[in-house]
Formats: sequence, structure tokens, C-alpha cells
Amino acid sequence: MKHTFKGIFIIMFSFISCISYAGEGMWLPQLLKLLNENEMKSMGMKISADDIYSVNKGSLKDAIVHFGGFCTSEIISPNGLLLTNHHCGYGQIQSHSTVENNLIKNGFWAKNYKEELPNQGLTATFIDYIDDVSTKVLTGIKPEMSATERQSLIDKNLADVRKTYKLEAYQNVIIRPFFDGNQYFAFVTTVYRDVRLVGAPPESIGKFGSDTDNWVWPRHTGDFSLFRIYADKNNKPADYSPENVPYKPKHFLPISMDGIAEGDFTMVFGFPGRTNQYLPSSAISQVLETLNPAKIAIRETSLKIMDKYMREDEATKIKYAAKYATIANYWKKWIGESMGLKQTNALQKKLDYEANFQQKLAADSPYKNLLGELQKLYSDINQYALANDYYSEIALRNVDLTSYMATLRRLVNAYEKNGEAGYNELLLNVKTFSTNFYNDFDSAIDQEKFSALLDMYVKNLDKKFVPEFLQRENLGMQPNETYDQMIKDQYLSSSFTSVEDAMAILNLSPEKAVSAIKSDPIFALTSEWSAFFSKEISTPYNNIRKEIDLKLAQYTKAQMDVFTEKRFYPDANSTLRVTYGKVNGYEPRDAVKYSPVTYLDGVIAKYVPGDYEFDLQPKMLALYKAKDYGAYADKNGKLPVCFIGSNHTTGGNSGSPAIDANGNLIGLNFDRVWEGTMSDINYDASICRNIMVDVRYILWVVDKYAGAEHLIKEMKLVHPKAMPIKKKKR
Ligand code: ARG
Ligand code: ASP
Repeated sequence: MKHTFKGIFIIMFSFISCISYAGEGMWLPQLLKLLNENEMKSMGMKISADDIYSVNKGSLKDAIVHFGGFCTSEIISPNGLLLTNHHCGYGQIQSHSTVENNLIKNGFWAKNYKEELPNQGLTATFIDYIDDVSTKVLTGIKPEMSATERQSLIDKNLADVRKTYKLEAYQNVIIRPFFDGNQYFAFVTTVYRDVRLVGAPPESIGKFGSDTDNWVWPRHTGDFSLFRIYADKNNKPADYSPENVPYKPKHFLPISMDGIAEGDFTMVFGFPGRTNQYLPSSAISQVLETLNPAKIAIRETSLKIMDKYMREDEATKIKYAAKYATIANYWKKWIGESMGLKQTNALQKKLDYEANFQQKLAADSPYKNLLGELQKLYSDINQYALANDYYSEIALRNVDLTSYMATLRRLVNAYEKNGEAGYNELLLNVKTFSTNFYNDFDSAIDQEKFSALLDMYVKNLDKKFVPEFLQRENLGMQPNETYDQMIKDQYLSSSFTSVEDAMAILNLSPEKAVSAIKSDPIFALTSEWSAFFSKEISTPYNNIRKEIDLKLAQYTKAQMDVFTEKRFYPDANSTLRVTYGKVNGYEPRDAVKYSPVTYLDGVIAKYVPGDYEFDLQPKMLALYKAKDYGAYADKNGKLPVCFIGSNHTTGGNSGSPAIDANGNLIGLNFDRVWEGTMSDINYDASICRNIMVDVRYILWVVDKYAGAEHLIKEMKLVHPKAMPIKKKKR
């Protein structure tokens, strides 16, 4: 096992030249030289792999920042100015908003450093360097080990490897499995903790088209916001302090003013969250037939209820805006994913691939029964996977009060384990969290969601997954009666439906607070439900899951052994990756062809006065009328807004820079096209496209719309296309 991966890379390397380019792949930056540089250059890239990732000199990677651990961002000035999406900074923009001073609605532009707004808890993480630690982590691992034996040895090895890193106080080491645990890489990171809001367009730009246009091309959203990293006097991470100063980066991205054209090389550099490219067909049919339909239906119910209340009241709309957008986002993604999988015959393609795989195996191959075993395991896990999704979607994601109880549970546990000291250590955190939680909480909406979703849970799951205390007959309810009254009674007698009552409890002595929490009806219900879930659903689920993971590790390795001509890249796992492609339109369906660029004219064409998704502010209309595009228009005098390319991206890549052949910023990644959201499971070069805001639109908004010229002055604007054309390699 130890030597496998060297072998695999050599095999992959030697076959690269015979593979035609497909845009697929999320590559590790430190392996580009070995695996991708030639291809990238053949596609037009002018810089080298060393310019992208180097530990010896400043390289592009030093400008790429994990934003809050969930999005990507990049440094675009020598003073630590950070560009990311509007939807990535949305929580922060919202948290500084009130009905009187609504930054979501009006936008926000700090005129100087002093006006930049601090954001508690927001982090900016740099990757210092990456090590291959596979040999150390997999020491002693034998193929015949059980899932549990394997995991405990790996855990021990991981702890040993971690100890070998001598880190500064502000550094971390993150070790992640790749190729389903066949390889391990360590990422040493530096985490900055003072990240301030600098600017955000109004939602009529930053969220233009909102949920109707989300995941859709053609798109016209200026989905960006600006932050700044602050450091201590030594340029090192520090907690927020008025004494902190703007961070001086090792590298920042220059910005190309020359724009893009179809066929141009593009590269997207960021932190893609999760993909599953090497699944067997049995897993894909589970997604298609069982899990996606269930999750889509649950979220549809939840969204309808929120929407009803949000339309009635402006304050509710602000309160629920971020929550609604989060729930709506994956609801729509799953619909697109299922659609795309069907449209491209993904299941049949996997079955053909598997038949091919099976046929290529030697008669005595240890992998002969692997696919059959996986199929059996996926069929065994099906009912638990469904129940698991139901429970998580309802108790942990869509009903707020039950999700909040998890925070109180931590407090109770801390008290029971470590007494008052343990409790007090957590209390401040819990209070801050609670204040934010209640700012965005409406008891009536939550009750209605809980009741409707509980009804679905009981209706659609096998009875053995419904705890007795939630079964109608045990509650004295009629067979078809709604849960409205039952939930209402519970909320009425709970102390956690209002911030005042909740804080009153958190201000009691630890002993009294814990006893009040434990006797609260919602806390009790949530605890019982969670215990039931753990016993009846998650334990059996995890037991099978462990077996599946072990077999998937074997299957991934087997695929690499068998298809030596295929180039393999590791699934996304929130680590730093490079993906590259070209500016490229696509044909979503018969006779329809999409071109790759949208313009401001398209924004105006979508304008619906007063609409909550497609409204525009008078300033925008005036600038359009005056055609006041400054230096940001293209050759034809039109202002580009968004463009698409064949870069392979996923959730977490939002806010990633789109970089040109010379290492300059040309756009800001924020989405994918609907038909192509199945790229997480089955990338298809014909319809998978990522969506980026054209950087010229961003600059235009900052300059002409917001009048924040001081920010433009900080940046480095370049004209790479005006440079003398270098001789082409023959
Ligand atoms: N679909 C994009 C992504 O997955 C953008 C989401 C934000 N926009 C929204 N309307 N929810 O994150
Ligand atoms: N919108 C996604 C994000 O926030 C990107 C994607 O899924 O394509 O990361």
C-alpha cells in the first residue's frame, strides 16, 4: 500500500499526453507541475506551476484565502483587501443591518479604514504549505483489517504525525484523507481573526435575481463584497483590536482590465467543499430515487411557510433572508442535480463503466465481488439514510428551536462533566450565539414549520423510525390531525421562544440554569428525539456507513488500478485546489445555445419595478441611461456582467478568483449552471459550467455606482492583452 501512490502518479503522468482536455478535475496545487502544467500551457497558460504554488517565493496561493471556512476569497491589494461573494459575506452584511440602517437593501461602503466594520468570529485562513503524509498515516495498514481496526490505527498515526509539526500559536495543521483514504495530505495554515467589512453592493446588485436566477444561466448578479484582513504590528494574526493594521500580503492578485473572450484560458483557485466522483451506480440511484426527492420535498414545505411570512412583513423579511437563502440554495441545487443526472444518462453511463471495470478485472482479482458488495450495502443502508436525512433536515436544519437546543445541550453537558467551571467556560459563547439566534427567530414561523415537517416525517418514514412520543395515537390525536396544537402547546410552555426568557435563564446560577433547561419541554423533546435517533437511526446507519467507506476506499483504488489510462483527481474535501478550463458557452437542450457572456443590457431587461428579486435602484437606471461605463466597457462599448467557463467547481468555490493565463484576476466565481450541478457526482463536459462575475462589472460598481474610488486606487489594474504577444511554442 505504501508505494501505491507514487506508482499511480507516474502512471497518470505518462498518460496525460494522450488525454484530450475535458475541464474535469480539482487538482492539488503542489502537484500541478507533475500532473497538469503541460496541459495548462497547451490551453494557453503563460505562467508556470511554480508561479501558482511555491513554498520558496510568493506565489498565487498566497493570495487565496479560505473565508470563514465555508467560502473562498482573494487578496486584491497590498493592504489586505479581500474580495469574496456577496452571498459569502451575507451573514456579516445582515448582522450589521437594521430596519433603519439596512445594509442588505442599501449596500455599504466604508470611506476609510475607520469605517470598516469588525465581524466577530469571522476568520481568514492561508495555506502556508502542503505535505504528503500518506506513508506515515498508512503505516501498518493491511488490506485484511476491519473498518474499525483500520480507523483506530489511522487515528493513532494521525496523532503521531500531528506531533511532528512545530507550529506557531496562530498556525494549525489540518490532515485530510484523499482518494477515499488511500492518500493523506497535511495543510499547515495561518488563521487571521480580524476581518472587517469594507463594502457591499445593495442586494439589487449583489443578489439580483435572487432565488429565481440562482443556479441559472444566463445570469446577471453582481455577487461580490469586500472585506479586509487586519493584523497586529508584526503582520501576524490577532483578535480584533482598534490597534490592528491592514495586513500586508505575500502576494495579491493584479486585476486585468482587458476582459475575456470565448476560448480564453481560465483557472479557478479555491476551497471546493465536497464531491463524490467515484461512487458506484448503486449510490447514484439512491441519490436519484430516495434521498434527493425526500430532501427536496422537506425544504419545499419549509420554504413555502417562510415565504408566506416574509411577504407579509419587512422586518420578517430581513430576519429570515439569510435563512431562507440557505435553505433555498440546496433545495434548488438538488432539483438541478437530479435533472442533470437524468438528462445525461448518468446512471446508465455508470452501469456501462462498471461493466467495463468488471470485465477488465483479472479472474483472480480481489476486487471481483466489490461492486456486488457495495450494491448490497447501499441497499441495506437505504432506509437508514432516508431516516437520517429526514431527521437532520427537520431537527437540525429547518426547525430553528430544535437546532438551538444542541447549543444548550453542550452547556448542560459541560456542567455535568466539569461542573461550574466547565459551564462558565462556555457561557459567554452561548450567550453571544443566543443573541444572534433570537435576532433571526420568529416563534410563529418556527411552530408552523415544525408541525408541517413533523407530519411529513411521520407520514413518510417507517413507523420504527418514529419515536413513541411523536406518534399520534400516543398523543391522543386523531389519525389525520395536524401537529399544530401539540407543537403550539410545547412552544407555549417553553422558556426558549423569546430572547428575554432565554437570557433570564442563562443569567441564573449554573445549577439553576441547568435544571431549568433540563425541565424545558422543547429541550426534553429534542433530547429524547435525539437519543432515539442515535439508537434507532444513526447507530445502524454509521455501522453500515463504515463498511461502505472501507469498500469505497478499495473501489477507488481498484478503479485507478484498472483504468490506467484515466486521469484521477481526488474528490473535493475543503482543501485548496486548482481547476482550469476555458470561457465557454453550452447547449442546455436541443436547439438552444447559450453564449458565455451577459451584459448590463440584460440586467435592465430583467428589471421588474418593486419586485423583491428583480428590482433596481434609481442610480443604476440613471448610470445605464447615461451609458456611464468608464474604462470598464468592452470593445463594443457594452458593460459585461457575468461569464461562464468549463472550470470544475463546487460549493465552497464561491468567492474563488477566476484567473487568466498570466495570473491576473478576471472574474469572481459564484455559481454553476443548473443543468450542470450534477458535476459533484458526474462531471459532464458538455453541460457543466461555472458562473463568474466579470471583474470589470465589480470595478464599475465600486467606482461608478458606489463612488468608492479610493478602493480602486488600492488595486493594481493591468493590461495583459496589450502586452507584446509572446512567440507561440511550436
Ligand atoms: N448557488 C450558489 C451557491 O451554491 C449561490 C447561492 C447564494 N444565492 C442564493 N440566492 N441563495 O452557493
Ligand atoms: N455557490 C456555490 C458556493 O457558494 C458554488 C457552487 O456550488 O458552484 O460555493
